[in-house]
Amino acid sequence: MTSTLFSMITVLLFCVFAVVEVVESGIGVNWGTVALHKLSPETVVDLLKDNKIEKVKLFDADPDVLKALMGSGIEVMVGIPNEMLAVLSSSASVADLWVSQNVSRYMVKGGVNIKYVAVGNEPFLTSYSGQYQSYVFPALTNLQQSLAKGNLAGMVKLVVPCNADAYESSLPSQGAFRPELAQIMMQIVSFLSSNGSPFVVNIYPFLSLYGNSDFPQDYAFFEGTTHPVVDGPNVYYNAYDGNFDTLLAALSKIGYGHMPIVIGEIGWPTDGALGANLSAARLFNKGLVNRVLSNKGTPLRPGVPPMDVYLFSLLDEGAKSVLPGNFERHWGIFSFDGQAKYSLNLGNGLLKNAKDVHYLPSRWCVANPTRDLSAVANHFKLACSFADCTTLNYGGSCNGIGEKGNISYAFNGYYQLQKQNPRTCEFDGLGIVTFRDPSVGDCRFLVGVTDGKSSGFRLNSGRIVSSLIIFGGIFTVVV
Ligand SMILES: *[C@@H]1O[C@H](CO)[C@@H](O)[C@H](O)[C@H]1NC(C)=O
Ligand SMILES: *[C@@H]1O[C@H](CO)[C@@H](O)[C@H](O)[C@H]1NC(C)=O
Ligand SMILES: *[C@@H]1O[C@H](CO)[C@@H](O)[C@H](O)[C@H]1NC(C)=O
Repeated sequence: MTSTLFSMITVLLFCVFAVVEVVESGIGVNWGTVALHKLSPETVVDLLKDNKIEKVKLFDADPDVLKALMGSGIEVMVGIPNEMLAVLSSSASVADLWVSQNVSRYMVKGGVNIKYVAVGNEPFLTSYSGQYQSYVFPALTNLQQSLAKGNLAGMVKLVVPCNADAYESSLPSQGAFRPELAQIMMQIVSFLSSNGSPFVVNIYPFLSLYGNSDFPQDYAFFEGTTHPVVDGPNVYYNAYDGNFDTLLAALSKIGYGHMPIVIGEIGWPTDGALGANLSAARLFNKGLVNRVLSNKGTPLRPGVPPMDVYLFSLLDEGAKSVLPGNFERHWGIFSFDGQAKYSLNLGNGLLKNAKDVHYLPSRWCVANPTRDLSAVANHFKLACSFADCTTLNYGGSCNGIGEKGNISYAFNGYYQLQKQNPRTCEFDGLGIVTFRDPSVGDCRFLVGVTDGKSSGFRLNSGRIVSSLIIFGGIFTVVV
């Protein structure tokens, strides 16, 4: 009797541990810093802590960010930009220096919990036409030696985040790496496997939908589909599962079907394209989180979720290139100022907003309603070359606000970026400062933040900027 009870308790405990483990293998975030209005790294780390986000992926090794992460216990993936791969591949001492400056230095008591180093970011992306391809493996071997020299090889694992365009197939079971990558993938995957590193992949059902008008919309989400993909005995109801298993098939084909998988980036943007909006982003991320935390796995790997999943992204980054599309600046689950864009539960309760964000005063710059605006084109263009005007375009949240609204939006973006310096709302008399929030519906007229350093003050030539500089007294010595 007692022993039965005992074993029942043991079973119960096991269940409890199993559940805890699922929560622990939880959801991390990508923290990119190509922002126009930067929150201080300390504010962002507090945001992570308040939301119990215990894993963060970075794209570089910014000392301010790493300093803010010290003592937090948050598990960190630091990144090496593709541009550094060439020099790291050709010089062991450069690799040593990178590791000592950007890893070893932080691996101390009360330091940063660095678990991964991402060697390049999607270095095999088709659009790079192979320019980084030959550097990845030699950079890996150099960096691995540097880690070993620093006695860090057991704690810090090298990974190579790959875009899902590294493999292809119409059916998951037929997945294979792109022919030109076959050799190098074999080399890299075998290296990763022998060092105990996972395979890191970035999966974007949004981009499949965005780039392909035939892509069934409901297949991008997790709510079931009228277009399931039937692959022999397996049926796929969403793009994520299909993509994941295509990778597993590709890895199997080269003998590594059991590699642990980490999802390095996955998410949905909220603005800047027709399919990018708050409700779609919420639906996708909610479905994803449930999917991962449910422990269900996929047809080719049932019952085993990916090791880690890093949402893309934590915050909007208003200074990112819009070459891929205007949505590129709107991937955050939080807006640039750390406010949750929609309700989402990452496994620990609904998202909580950033605290202690220091905003500029509540005022905005808008088009002067009493002035004729026919001569505004150059001002508009210049303002938008600094500020983020992507939401004004077709599919954006501010697309319907009219011509005057457009001008006001551009003026305000510029004015906030210049820390509300009154001269930056002049625009030859066409701008005027207002204390009434001009936001309309979902179209938000932002107020800047004063936290940290702003990257907004670029010293390009241009009339508005130079008059601002003179006003600011920076040129007084010259005069
Ligand atoms: C460390 O990382 C930073 C940020 O990515 C980079 O600028 C710097 O060059 C790196 N240090 C070395 C020695 O390579
Ligand atoms: C939001 O995006 C989804 C697809 O991603 C689309 O079906 C829906 O119509 C969009 N909603 C609005 C209000 O634009
Ligand atoms: C507002 O600006 C956007 C982007 O420049 C443009 O596509 C749109 O047509 C403009 N709207 C009006 C009413 O001028």
